[in-house]
Amino acid sequence: MAIVRFFRGRLLLRSIELKDDEFLVDAADRAGIDIPRNCTSGNCGTCLVRLISGNVPYPEPLPPGLDEFLIEDGGILSCCMIPEGACDIDVIPPL
Ligand code: FES
Repeated sequence: MAIVRFFRGRLLLRSIELKDDEFLVDAADRAGIDIPRNCTSGNCGTCLVRLISGNVPYPEPLPPGLDEFLIEDGGILSCCMIPEGACDIDVIPPL
C-alpha cells in the first residue's frame, strides 16, 4: 500500500496509507489534517497544496482552479486529484 506523508513546510505532520482511488483531501481528513476546501470540484483552488515528491496526475483538461504557474511550483488540487503511489505533500500551497 502507498503512503502519503503530509508536511507543513519541513515539518512532518502525519503519514497515512492511501485507499484506492482516494482523493488527497479525503486522506488528509482521515489523518486529521485540515486542508481548506470550498467547491470540492476543482474550480475554486481553495484546496491547493504543493506536491513535494511522488506522482499525482493532472486531470485533462486542467480544472479551472489550477494555472500553469501553480503547476510549475508543484501545485495540485487535493479535492480532485488522486496520487499514483506514495507521495509527499506540503499543505502550504505555492503562492
Ligand atoms: S475545493 Fe475548490 S478546487 Fe478544490
